[in-house]
Amino acid sequence: MSGIRIEPAIVADEELVEAFQRLLPLLSKSATPLEAYDLESIVASPATTLFVARDGENQIVGTLTLVLFRSPSGARGWIEDVIVDEEARGNGVGEALVDAAIDLARRSNARTLDLTSNPTREAANRLYVRCGFEQRTTNVYRFSLEG
Ligand SMILES: CC(C)(COP(=O)(O)OP(=O)(O)OC[C@H]1O[C@@H](n2cnc3c(N)ncnc32)[C@H](O)[C@@H]1OP(=O)(O)O)[C@@H](O)C(=O)NCCC(=O)NCCS
Repeated sequence: MSGIRIEPAIVADEELVEAFQRLLPLLSKSATPLEAYDLESIVASPATTLFVARDGENQIVGTLTLVLFRSPSGARGWIEDVIVDEEARGNGVGEALVDAAIDLARRSNARTLDLTSNPTREAANRLYVRCGFEQRTTNVYRFSLEG
């Protein structure tokens, strides 16, 4: 796919809302659909960069969220919600999104960039390794605050 462009979303307009209505269910069937005000708060957060990928026709075909934060041990980055439209897959859109996140994390002097990916997500796991991520041996825990 030629002419892929990665940019941070600046405004939570109708186009962005429509894009997330399309993209979010491709990652999670259980995620609550996002309203404009949800996206506004993400876009407005100084810690969060909501990247979108546009194709040659300027359509939003993918997204990645990068969170940059400081903890006592240093500046760190976290990647969430990497999603590419089904018809746009296999063209390097995912790689371009991850590379943009690495670039911003590097320019922000983050020491590390982390993400998790379920082993069943084979394309995603290959993508992260291809982009230079190394698998760590650590226990990942979650305390659910829902329900
Ligand atoms: C993971 C995902 C973001 C990758 O996006 P992408 O734009 O297809 O990424 P790339 O083109 O850079 O690489 C995708 C891989 O799938 C291969 N591929 C080829 N054609 C494909 C197709 N039609 N559909 C899917 N993958 C295809 C690519 O060749 C590449 O394989 P490789 O790593 O062995 O080279 C995308 O598959 C996706 O949105 N999946 C559903 C949500 C998800 O799992 N997100 C990750 C959460 S951790």
